[in-house]
Amino acid sequence: MRSIMVFNSKGGSGKSTISINLASYFASQGKKVVIADFDPQSSSLEWLENRSSGGNLITGIDASKGNFRAPRNADYIIYDTPAAILAKNITHYLRRAQSVIIPVLPSPIDIRAATPFIQNVLANGRVIRKECRVALIANRCRENTNIYQQLNIYLKKVRKAPFLSVLRESQNYNKASEKGQGIFELPPYLVSRDLDQWEPIIKWLRSKRSQPAN
Ligand SMILES: Nc1ncnc2c1ncn2[C@@H]1O[C@H](COP(=O)(O)OP(=O)(O)O)[C@@H](O)[C@H]1O
Ligand SMILES: [Mg+2]
Repeated sequence: MRSIMVFNSKGGSGKSTISINLASYFASQGKKVVIADFDPQSSSLEWLENRSSGGNLITGIDASKGNFRAPRNADYIIYDTPAAILAKNITHYLRRAQSVIIPVLPSPIDIRAATPFIQNVLANGRVIRKECRVALIANRCRENTNIYQQLNIYLKKVRKAPFLSVLRESQNYNKASEKGQGIFELPPYLVSRDLDQWEPIIKWLRSKRSQPAN
């Protein structure tokens, strides 16, 4: 089973949005997908409640109350995580995941908050030992803005984690999530630009580079 975590201690960076879209992608590929939500706000589980039973099936797990068991027969488990994760708790989360995606927004506050968080994740023993692989994405970007340029420069400079993609600010995420879906389940003509931006993320997740060494 592949385990993927979307992780950033900053609220509003797009963790739930990216988690549900990853779940939607793998489900649309016919995979058995579980979404495990560590956030007591349970955005991902609420999203799942709006999902029609006719679609590609995704199972939800409330991971916010401590003990839970990941079903062994799933192909993919996607972990959504809460905001305000303390540095000392990073290992608690990382031990669950083979691949970790950190989304960062183009805002001065988000870039400032991401800096120590990314450093702490990259300095974690699990990451150093390549038991868990980390990648970065920029989220909610408008490319002609100055702050986007700053985020781009910042993420490119992080040497120990690949900067996979830039996701634009797009209402398609809201359109899909209202129905308990992801952009991969909307008509392709509506979302072609967004799908292009997801391609490097999917490619990374399918490659060995996102999986533990050995
Ligand atoms: N690429 C995007 N384009 C448009 N809206 C987005 C995008 N990513 C996230 N959002 C919106 O931003 C808000 C915060 O995103 P969310 O995924 O809930 O962040 P987090 O889980 O990190 O707190 C939500 O209202 C979500 O719909
Ligand atoms: Mg969330």
